[in-house]
Amino acid sequence: MYKIVEKRELNENVTLMSFQAPYIARKAEAGQFIIFRVDDRGERIPLTIADYDRDRGTVTVIFQKVGASTKRLGMLEEGDSISDLAGPLGVATHYEDGLKKVAVIGGGVGCAIAYPQAKKLHGMGVSVDLIAGFRNKDIVILEDEMRAISDRLFMMTDDGSYGDKGFVTVKLKELIEGGERYDAVIAIGPVIMMKMVCEVTRPYGIHTLVSLNPIMVDGTGMCGGCRVTVDGKIKFACVDGPDFDGHLVDFDELMRRNNIYKDKEKEADSHVCRLFGGKA
Ligand code: NAD
Ligand code: FES
Repeated sequence: MYKIVEKRELNENVTLMSFQAPYIARKAEAGQFIIFRVDDRGERIPLTIADYDRDRGTVTVIFQKVGASTKRLGMLEEGDSISDLAGPLGVATHYEDGLKKVAVIGGGVGCAIAYPQAKKLHGMGVSVDLIAGFRNKDIVILEDEMRAISDRLFMMTDDGSYGDKGFVTVKLKELIEGGERYDAVIAIGPVIMMKMVCEVTRPYGIHTLVSLNPIMVDGTGMCGGCRVTVDGKIKFACVDGPDFDGHLVDFDELMRRNNIYKDKEKEADSHVCRLFGGKA
């Protein structure tokens, strides 16, 4: 069992949770993920590791309560436990040697994962411009944390209710066209955002790393659920990623595959399992 040692609501729909998981904390690196099950009938849900503390033996995730399982997880409190936490899974983010200046882009709840990436780079002495985008002021998360580990933080909202008005790509384009020379861009957020960030950086040949979030089942390369096409080749995000060179990713295919089970997800709240005869 994995005990919840911290729970914090970051906004109405987004929760931060830390688990006592010393073996995972000992090995976790930025870019990797865990798969949790609330109990032995639960579905397996992947979440990127937002933070870890090797001394305390804790692993932190930040999740949006969008589906049946994340809603169930969100109902648990400090002191409660979940049955499974597998990880760390996936390949840790590889940072090229000689990076001097990097733009890190976080979109909405994707900021939860952009934050540890920026923190790691900042700790390596790299100059970090962080661009964080949210639909509006009410759902901004981690602003103080992101400010503390970036050289410059640019807050963007779609409706202009906080920071500058517009998508994150508006600010990135403005900075690049204004003469900023980035050695790399790291983008984490909705698939459409990562695709559009890549379209901004492509003409300038700026290496752009994205963290993909396809549907996953086993998380160990066996089921094929997380199949993505990168540079025309089939890759499994759970074992080959989740980070990939964004200029080589087939984002349209990823968006199509991510939408396959949207209707089923909506039914999940009222689903009655025929095996167990009750809700599962
Ligand atoms: P959202 O839809 O509110 O968008 C967040 C921001 O992304 C927007 O404010 C905007 O700045 C930017 N954006 C959105 N559409 C854009 C477009 N067409 N062009 C340019 N920029 C655009 O995001 P949300 O509802 O918070 O969802 C976050 C997404 O991040 C989820 O889809 C989630 O699956 C994903 N995510 C991925 C990871 C990962 O590890 N890859 C981790 C956490 C979350
Ligand atoms: Fe099954 Fe990646 S989740 S192969």
